[in-house]
Amino acid sequence: MSLMGILDRVADVPTFDKAIEPARKAVQAALPQGFKDLLHGTWLGHPVHPVVVQVPVGSWLSAGLLDAIPPMRPAATLLIGTGVAASVPAALTGAADWSEQGAGVRRLGALHALTNTVALGLYVGSLAARRQGRGGLGRALSYAGLGVATASAAIGGHMSYAQSSGASHAATAARALSTDWLDLGPLDDLPEGRPALRTGRGGGVAVPLVAVRRGGRVDAFVGACSHLSGPLYEGTVEDVRGHTCLVCPWHGSAFDLEDGSPRRGPAANPQEKLETRMEAGRVMARLPGRER
Ligand code: FES
Repeated sequence: MSLMGILDRVADVPTFDKAIEPARKAVQAALPQGFKDLLHGTWLGHPVHPVVVQVPVGSWLSAGLLDAIPPMRPAATLLIGTGVAASVPAALTGAADWSEQGAGVRRLGALHALTNTVALGLYVGSLAARRQGRGGLGRALSYAGLGVATASAAIGGHMSYAQSSGASHAATAARALSTDWLDLGPLDDLPEGRPALRTGRGGGVAVPLVAVRRGGRVDAFVGACSHLSGPLYEGTVEDVRGHTCLVCPWHGSAFDLEDGSPRRGPAANPQEKLETRMEAGRVMARLPGRER
């Protein structure tokens, strides 16, 4: 079985859910909403975790190279310390994202966190050994840490690439849409100030859309939430931090009706918005930038 197949099997094993679920709830309770949004990357329009993990990973990998050159070993120690310090924001951003994921991602995420903790412990031990003048032990511990951190990075990569953790599910759905204007039906059929389900098409595939009418104006989006494909057409329209937003019924992400920007997480990616126009009393929509 391939490494990826093994990770998929691990994601299916519920054995440790009894320990994982309380940990998830503890993370959610410990982090205030505003701080969580900071960690998710809601303000950035992109997940923060893959950005900040570059520091510990890059520092520790570079330290491994410099440790192989005796005159460079003091610099390696500095890089190891940098990686240890940078692992704190990396862990916080990862924990915030992990606490809002589905069961399979949470299981692999728990393994990812465990292996990262082991790697961190090895690097802290390496720093202690180096301070005591036991350079050989320090290097052995840091190389062991690098091996564990590499394995952990593979798990994190699987969470992103195979399990779509952190990916925009709305962008994926949008790719299936036709390039033509889509007929969303008569304006008068849309309820006022509430999301309504409409269907777009692309290559014979039905793509759920959501439309919100406010008077003569209609804002239309891909119907699958960018976070985890929640049904935005079953959501609500609310004022969130001074912006009129479409709120997802699954985890409460709020997207600005103006442009789809996330105003409250856990979503970090924006919601794909369609441009609209009226044609003989009917609402027409399409993704912007596409040819007529
Ligand atoms: S699916 Fe999670 S907030 Fe929409």
